[in-house]
Amino acid sequence: MKAVTVAAFGEPPQVSEQPEPKVGPDTVLVRVKVAGVNPVDWKVAAGRLDSILYVYLPLIPGWDVAGVVEKVGAAVTEYAPGDEVIAYDRMDTVQHGAYAELVPVPVRSLARKPASLSWQQAGGLPLAGLAAYQSLQAADVAKGDTVLVNNAAGGVGSFAVQIAVATGARVIGTAGEAKAGYLRSLGAEPVAYGEGLVQRVRALAPEGVDAALDFYGGEAISASMELTKSPSRVVSLVDPAIRELGGRYVFVRPDHAGLAELGSLSDAGKLTVHVEQELPLTDVAEAWQLSQSGHTTGKIVLRVS
Ligand SMILES: NC(=O)c1ccc[n+]([C@@H]2O[C@H](COP(=O)([O-])OP(=O)(O)OC[C@H]3O[C@@H](n4cnc5c(N)ncnc54)[C@H](OP(=O)(O)O)[C@@H]3O)[C@@H](O)[C@H]2O)c1
Repeated sequence: MKAVTVAAFGEPPQVSEQPEPKVGPDTVLVRVKVAGVNPVDWKVAAGRLDSILYVYLPLIPGWDVAGVVEKVGAAVTEYAPGDEVIAYDRMDTVQHGAYAELVPVPVRSLARKPASLSWQQAGGLPLAGLAAYQSLQAADVAKGDTVLVNNAAGGVGSFAVQIAVATGARVIGTAGEAKAGYLRSLGAEPVAYGEGLVQRVRALAPEGVDAALDFYGGEAISASMELTKSPSRVVSLVDPAIRELGGRYVFVRPDHAGLAELGSLSDAGKLTVHVEQELPLTDVAEAWQLSQSGHTTGKIVLRVS
């Protein structure tokens, strides 16, 4: 099968022929249509998560999958060949990822592909959608809350805004000024990030906010702490040190039920996936450069087949 491999930390990703993956007893082999691109993919390939995850080289990157079940393991009853599925396929070790024609996925990480989403959209949903969903849960966001979403126009933020709005929360979202219209289209009240953020948020919410999500780090965390009544409702996906301030750090977990809920929201017309760009698998280096620019809107995905 064709797959992207990274031979050593810091080496460029390259497409080559690789052996077909094994199918474990509780695992499904998925023929990948679209693999989502997430910042963590190139961070892992650069060795930046080597101290916290067992990463084996050469490595096939990618944790976001949308595709069709090719084979199932001997103990799998939930899925059959031909089923259309999505997955956040992070296993306990990192080696056989989604940037490939075939990928092994444990049953616990799979869900049915939402009917309302194209393949392109489905491939961009799992990791960032679950990260948004689990961050909102960690911050206990409920109907009637006002929530600040820092980095609201990126992959995760675009989902967090929509899920919070669907929950009945009021959302204030940060992005560059050029993205104010995009944030409004998702249902957020836009504010520009950078110096003066606290004052701009207070102009919209003089009492501050009930909860805040950080998808950027640094200044977003300090502003969130200043604006939120209780630090325990400030959640970061970026900086574990937030715990020292009384906040919560989330590292997104594989979650079948969460994926199914995201699918229901999509099929109910409450959640859409904005894909900024789809590139062929062979253009993986370009996809990573785009992601590394730090200014993409919504998702970048790779078309595999
Ligand atoms: N812990 C976890 O489980 C987990 C899970 C998912 C993601 N993450 C991390 O969360 C972060 C966000 O991920 P993502 O996929 O959403 O990234 P992304 O899509 O690459 O984010 C791009 C967005 O960042 C915005 N941005 C740039 N500078 C900003 C600033 N100073 N303040 C606020 N927003 C700014 C950009 O808006 P403009 O173009 O307007 O500048 C752009 O829309 C990454 O660091 C990622 O590694 C962690």
